[in-house]
Amino acid sequence: MMQKSLAACVFGALIVSTAALPASAADDIESRVQLCAGCHGQNGVPINSATPIIWGQQSNYLYKELHDYHSGDRANPFMASVAKMFTLPELRQVADYFAAKQWPAAEHTGTPGEAPKSAEMCKACHQPNFVGGAPAPRLAGLSYDYLLTSMNNFADGKRTNNLDMPGFMKALSETDREAIAHYLAGL
Ligand code: HEC
Ligand code: HEC
Repeated sequence: MMQKSLAACVFGALIVSTAALPASAADDIESRVQLCAGCHGQNGVPINSATPIIWGQQSNYLYKELHDYHSGDRANPFMASVAKMFTLPELRQVADYFAAKQWPAAEHTGTPGEAPKSAEMCKACHQPNFVGGAPAPRLAGLSYDYLLTSMNNFADGKRTNNLDMPGFMKALSETDREAIAHYLAGL
């Protein structure tokens, strides 16, 4: 009896104290993003090559994409319903949460290939080593399948949430796109 009421008292005090802590919002986000691991991976390695790496991706970019799935500017049925589980300010926290994680180490078997000439102009935005920055996302180490699909989606007008990328991708031949995707996946 004594113990029970003590437990109830401690539990009650815990609720009061955690509710008062500013950290509780972040804790809440941390528990709510557990579902992302189902596809984007428990350790940052996605479950399949159609699912992009989000651990260590640029924060601005993560937020922009979550925002676009939320608004419908970028179409994907899974990600639309996932993004709509959060408000826009919460999506900002989600973006910061994954951006702060470590990009998963690549398991390279061969040596990285030579950079195709057509990949030169991409560096202006995606940065010389393709790790991304404020103007554009990281591409280095994304899967070949995801990279090629993204590039083709821009070229074919299926992904329209950026003004520049569709034109850049249309200007490349399919062989160029394949060569670039192959190169970037090996970085
Ligand atoms: C059912 C599987 C699934 C779940 C669960 C899921 N995702 Fe995704 N996610 C995907 C797939 C597949 C894509 C690629 C979709 C596309 O091509 O537009 C994607 C794309 C993304 C992108 C775009 C990345 C880029 O490089 O453009 C972000 C950001 C993202 N997801 C974040 C999240 C977050 C955060 C959660 C959890 C709140 C989550 N996802 C849950 C499957 C999932
Ligand atoms: C003027 C700046 C700029 C240049 C040059 C540029 N990009 Fe991009 N790229 C972007 C931005 C910004 C995005 C994010 C678009 C969005 O909001 O979804 C992007 C997105 C992408 C994505 C999708 C990444 C993902 O996770 O879904 C790929 C792939 C890509 N670019 C490849 C390339 C390649 C290859 C080149 C060169 C041939 C190139 N880009 C040149 C700015 C640029």
